[in-house]
Amino acid sequence: MMDIKEILKLTDELVLAQTGEHLDYLQEAILRGTLQDQKYAEIAAATHSSEGYVRDVGSKLWKMLSKELGEEITKANFRSIIEKVEFNNFSSATVKGNVTVNNVNICPQTPQSPQDTPQPQQTPTRSHIDLGDAPEIFSFYDRTHELATLETWIVRDRDRLIALLGISGIGKTTLALQLIEQIKTHFDYVIYRSLRFSPTPDATLTNLLQIFSQQAEIPHAIETQLSQLINYLRKYRCLIVFDDVQMLFSSGQLAGQYKSGYEDYHLFFKQIAELCHQSSLLLISWEKPREVAKLERLNNYVHSLVLGSLGVAAKEILKQHNLSDEDSWETLINSYQGNPLWLEFTATMIQELFGGNVSDFLQCDAPILCESLQAQLDQQFQRLTQPEQAVMIQLANETEPVTLPQISKTVQLSTSDLLNAMQSLGRRLLLEAKEQGKTTFFTLNTVLKQYVKNRYFQ
Ligand SMILES: Nc1ncnc2c1ncn2[C@@H]1O[C@H](COP(=O)(O)OP(=O)(O)OP(=O)(O)O)[C@@H](O)[C@H]1O
Ligand SMILES: [Mg+2]
Repeated sequence: MMDIKEILKLTDELVLAQTGEHLDYLQEAILRGTLQDQKYAEIAAATHSSEGYVRDVGSKLWKMLSKELGEEITKANFRSIIEKVEFNNFSSATVKGNVTVNNVNICPQTPQSPQDTPQPQQTPTRSHIDLGDAPEIFSFYDRTHELATLETWIVRDRDRLIALLGISGIGKTTLALQLIEQIKTHFDYVIYRSLRFSPTPDATLTNLLQIFSQQAEIPHAIETQLSQLINYLRKYRCLIVFDDVQMLFSSGQLAGQYKSGYEDYHLFFKQIAELCHQSSLLLISWEKPREVAKLERLNNYVHSLVLGSLGVAAKEILKQHNLSDEDSWETLINSYQGNPLWLEFTATMIQELFGGNVSDFLQCDAPILCESLQAQLDQQFQRLTQPEQAVMIQLANETEPVTLPQISKTVQLSTSDLLNAMQSLGRRLLLEAKEQGKTTFFTLNTVLKQYVKNRYFQ
């Protein structure tokens, strides 16, 4: 990350190139304040100017910089855009092909070293969309809030690494494909790939590089592949979506542990998050990748979104299945955690066995898990370690949410096994944690509880 001094120096050179003058005192104060997340009112107070005047000077400055860099710059996105600009050893570089700025180079056009330089490419006039084996979406309901959040992170803030997380069937793939439809015009390249068959890092990188340069020979060394990819991500604005990322992680080990031979994905994701470029990588997974867990607190360009219940919008799914007795639909949706796939399975069962009558079905005591739902949860449970299974069994026994000390009293695990298991279950989104004052209470949702009972107690 560049520090404030570097950013000011670079901006000064950009302004000098356009106006022949250096940044003045107020312009510099506005930039400094912006980089320190200050509001115009605070900058005005610090410079003894009126807020209106500071806003005017600011707005002229953003316009000037937008013109210089060929991109819409605002107070909100100034840092993220200017951070794409880096200092390097080149004696001169051309910005937008007409103004020469000494010692400055713009990231998207920055070859790192001659051997890394991608073959010259024509900038695509339209987005290049390659959705590979993405499923077709027939209906899409709600998720307005989630779409807006993802759009802000990706389009406005230019996040580099975003994780979309959630339990199987909650609607991650559907949401990501709807998002692509909504924001694709902002990108030169949009690429979707499912990693469900666990492609090696080499296979994935080769596949991506082939999209950018069909004829060029793809290098073998992972470092060279990665640096070529990063150069394309600088040159073009790309949105890459990797789905089913959990398939890169080992089954039977704590969440987010790479399978042997897949560790280079760690470097891959870390570099995408840490190096400067203008693209975004969206990872979709059942388990939070460790890079994301670590970097989301430290790096402004890394975020994760956990997808939860579809809420009342799930009524549309029940409508599609011709269910009756609309008054009970909300109860049904809540019992199945608003999980669209669980509701689809259950709605089919209600149709087949209860003539579509929801309240008749709800007369059955515990939540009924039809065979398809059970099989689908099996896939996730097979991945758990022994200590994680022990914790799940313990929590399925509890009628009320419990604290960590309460769990540790009953479960037969060492403290470190217990803590690692809890953290891992959290990253797999299987635990519900509720804060009350300074205490955290843990519980399982009713479907998972029932599943554990069916699996282990019968
Ligand atoms: N917002 C939505 N509107 C309508 N249907 C939805 C919505 N979200 C999900 N669904 C439906 O729910 C089912 C599961 O969705 P999806 O495949 O996107 O889940 P997922 O989270 O990607 O699951 P997995 O992790 O197993 O891949 C699909 O049949 C999909 O059509
Ligand atoms: Mg999916």
